[in-house]
Amino acid sequence: MDKNAPIGIFDSGIGGLTVAKAVTQLLPHENIIYFGDTAHLPYGDKSQAMIQSYSLKICNLLMEHKCKVIVIACNSASAAAYELLKEYVGSRAHIINVVDPAVKYVKEHFPDSVIGLIGTKATVRSGIYKSKIGQQRVGIELKSLATPLLAPMIEEGFFNEGVSEQIIEGYLKNEELNGIEALILGCTHYPLIKKQIDKYYNGKVKTIDSSTVVAAELKHYLERKDILNEGSGGGRKFYVSDYTKSFEESTKIFFGEEVKIEKYPLWT
Ligand code: DGL
Repeated sequence: MDKNAPIGIFDSGIGGLTVAKAVTQLLPHENIIYFGDTAHLPYGDKSQAMIQSYSLKICNLLMEHKCKVIVIACNSASAAAYELLKEYVGSRAHIINVVDPAVKYVKEHFPDSVIGLIGTKATVRSGIYKSKIGQQRVGIELKSLATPLLAPMIEEGFFNEGVSEQIIEGYLKNEELNGIEALILGCTHYPLIKKQIDKYYNGKVKTIDSSTVVAAELKHYLERKDILNEGSGGGRKFYVSDYTKSFEESTKIFFGEEVKIEKYPLWT
């Protein structure tokens, strides 16, 4: 495997940028190719088959770019398509999802606790967190709540303001989340509203943002395989399936620089 080969990262939209950002901070020499499937978001309301077919197309593009690792920076796609993508890609690239590193983190830091999970309908419906935490027998009780309005709201740029605060509160006061000690942000869009979630809980509940643990997992893998880019890399390329102003603006804010975004419709 070529050390200079890029890392492919994808999501339905801007959510995966939270992971891409954590990756560039931890691994500044890696070249990144990001794909935001803006034509098809939100993924959270789609069927498993639909999410799988989008994810396969994106993987094809990332493999054309000879990515050494593909990070599924989306919980909904991790839940719906990880096993399929792993099989499809085979030895051509390594696939990392966002659920396993988060589960590992929760298991290490919150054994015997009551943990909340918020995510899209697709993620919560899949039961992926419950089954993966369950497999590890650590006495964790998981309470899950689908919060389908949050990702589209964030994608439209509504965060850090009154409207979003009300919607967030409306979800978090749901009795399903009563008594939790920590909350998994089970959607990669949610770190963008972490501040508001923390404000709601006022320090009583720890919020778990998996972007840094996913980046750490990636670093660990690259080191183990001796394919860490130590050279002058650091390139970034962004693709979207449909151009949106909010994607461009968010990307600029995330990386603090002008970014070039290329449109790549998935169906051509
Ligand atoms: N950011 C994604 C996730 O982690 C998808 C949100 C959506 O498109 O519904 O689930």
